[in-house]
Amino acid sequence: MTAEYQVIEGVAVVTVDNPPVNAISQTVRDGIIKGIDRASADPEAQSVLLRCEGKTFMAGADISEFDKPALAPSLPDVVNCIEACPKPVVALIHGYALGGGLEIAMACHYRIAQEGAKLGLTETNLGLIPGAGGTQRLPRLVGVSKALDMITGGKIISSEEALESKLVDKLIGHLPEKSDEPQNMLKVALNYCQKVPQQTPVLRRLSQAPMPHQVAEGVFDEWRTKMHKRKRNLNAVQSAIDAVEASTKQPFDEAIKLERNLFMLLRESQQAKALRHIFFAEKKAGQFNTKSVPSTQKIQKVAVIGAGTMGTGIAMAFSNAGYPVLLLEKSHVALEQGITRIEKMLASSIKREKITAAQADKSRNLITPTTDYQSLQDVDMVIEAVFEDLEVKSQVFAQIHEHCRSDAIIASNTSYLDINVLAMGSPYPENIIGMHFFSPANIMKLVEVIRTDYCSEATLTTAIKVLKHLNKVSVISGVCHGFIGNRMYQSYQREVGLLLLEGASPKQIDQALYNFGMAMGPLSVADMSGLDISYMMRKSLNKEDYDSRAFLVHDRLVESNRKGRKTHSGFYKYDENGKKLGTDPSVLQLIAATASELGFQPREVKDNEIIDRCILALVNEGAHILDEGIAASASDIDVVYVNGYGFPRHLGGPMHYAQASGLDHVAKTIDQFSSSYGDRWWKSAASLRAGSQNGKWEEVV
Ligand code: COA
Repeated sequence: MTAEYQVIEGVAVVTVDNPPVNAISQTVRDGIIKGIDRASADPEAQSVLLRCEGKTFMAGADISEFDKPALAPSLPDVVNCIEACPKPVVALIHGYALGGGLEIAMACHYRIAQEGAKLGLTETNLGLIPGAGGTQRLPRLVGVSKALDMITGGKIISSEEALESKLVDKLIGHLPEKSDEPQNMLKVALNYCQKVPQQTPVLRRLSQAPMPHQVAEGVFDEWRTKMHKRKRNLNAVQSAIDAVEASTKQPFDEAIKLERNLFMLLRESQQAKALRHIFFAEKKAGQFNTKSVPSTQKIQKVAVIGAGTMGTGIAMAFSNAGYPVLLLEKSHVALEQGITRIEKMLASSIKREKITAAQADKSRNLITPTTDYQSLQDVDMVIEAVFEDLEVKSQVFAQIHEHCRSDAIIASNTSYLDINVLAMGSPYPENIIGMHFFSPANIMKLVEVIRTDYCSEATLTTAIKVLKHLNKVSVISGVCHGFIGNRMYQSYQREVGLLLLEGASPKQIDQALYNFGMAMGPLSVADMSGLDISYMMRKSLNKEDYDSRAFLVHDRLVESNRKGRKTHSGFYKYDENGKKLGTDPSVLQLIAATASELGFQPREVKDNEIIDRCILALVNEGAHILDEGIAASASDIDVVYVNGYGFPRHLGGPMHYAQASGLDHVAKTIDQFSSSYGDRWWKSAASLRAGSQNGKWEEVV
């Protein structure tokens, strides 16, 4: 049963129960319609309360249904049925009312919400627009500007903001006399429902309501321009603006048809399919097959070794999530610099309204700076974030072992080193793991969790559980140089370097890949990260493990102290504040001289060749990673690339992009590259060849 019906003191209570998030599946839609119809005809019921069991109100349409044929009744059928009900219908919102959940709530004649509830029309995040009246009813409730902001941004707002903007009519909070005890939601809601009919004889149907404000001329074009920059390439956002504009210019019945047509078109689009793929890929990431469910360890206190950029970011990621953190450095000076960095990051988070001043205080107070390894004796987990050098890390590990409990989990934040070596040198190899955070670690969601050959399932599960508390997306990677992300990135940068030598300029390469959808061009990224970082990383590789020609220009820049933005020159020039000034002519000369020295003949390179070479280099390396079992699935690789490397989310990640483009076509193109450039780097992976037969990557179950 997904929607129960009962009458309590004259109120028909329709209760949806579809765990875990009350997604609006076909049975839920059917159940709500039956409940509303029954209430309409029930002489015992004067009003109706629509509520949900479990941790949340309806968190949206059932996304898994979008790839299947549409099933009746539709969400618009449900919304129409509720709004047309002759008795007042009240929505009782707790947890989340998202997407279709909020559309249902807006079809109700009144909305009351529990404090702490969150509301939003988040469809654009999935490449869709609200398709059951959301773009028409929300502006009528909160005004056009607020509606555009919420819908185009896919924003989730708090219950307080919802009350202020008239999206909800009443908040249910805590008992006044016992401030931390919540009021009995059902009791308050029933009481509200009993009063509603007397209060308003005419039902508030939003489809018949006028717009609350006049809309200034040009508003919609301003939004189109603004969102074109902010949500580059995302078709749903522009369609959402069209639909909201229609709410101001057309009668409701016509505008709603336009909304539905746009929704149906978008639902079938490649972008929406890619965004659904990445939604479920992120939910699946970090899950792994175990013979039994391993017991997890309780992590109450952590230590971070190293107060550099990564260490301080990691310390903040933990303290923001409420963990007490010891921040350990070898010198007081380094420690003080680390604390200053944390202060700056907290101040910037407050300024950007990411956290309140009170939350920042709480987070800061949870971090205890120390230079004393002895204080590690009562920590449950240590994250080592010192200089990226195996020798240095081994020495730090030895110190950690000397002072830590034997059951403490010890994680290294290396981005490419062989963690098996650290595990082998440990007296407790089963407790050693990798946690590769991305910078800034307090903001970036991705963490690659590196499973060594020795770590226990309990260590792995505990690490993933802790990272979930930190609100991170974890992807498990086996051990190899660079793990999933950086290993693939090396292939991508290889093609970038070779294309430079073949005749493409830094600006052309960056622009082509930016236009493809990457957050930034690869040479701008290299300058921003510091060319010396990848230079050092290459030093840890054998010469035959990478194409040294592709990085000769990079090496020469570093060796002449042109390390990128931090030295105001790299592939581009920068001013004192780090603002890009443009291409450096001397870099173009250096590229031409290096190319001629290596025997490259300059030629015209087309933008689509840049895209194919760079993106398919990622795909083929990803496929080799699958062959070797370093990643468990193609979707895990997509999660890494979308969350850590600026790959466009609306293309679903490199592996999904390849599948959507046709794996047979991709395999053929890679074979052509292999004929033209040799098979040292372009040998097609077995999983790609298998995928090209089946049309999709093999699913790992
Ligand atoms: N349709 C289908 N399944 C959904 C879903 C939806 N709208 N929302 C969540 N789920 C599934 C998840 O895939 C997950 O499944 P799993 O347990 O098999 O992995 C499960 O419900 C729990 O979701 P999870 O995200 O782990 O729970 P949470 O408590 O961390 O977060 C939400 C809850 C509602 C905030 C989050 O699930 C969410 O953002 N959902 C999407 C909401 C949305 O965009 N709605 C608009 C749809 S058009």
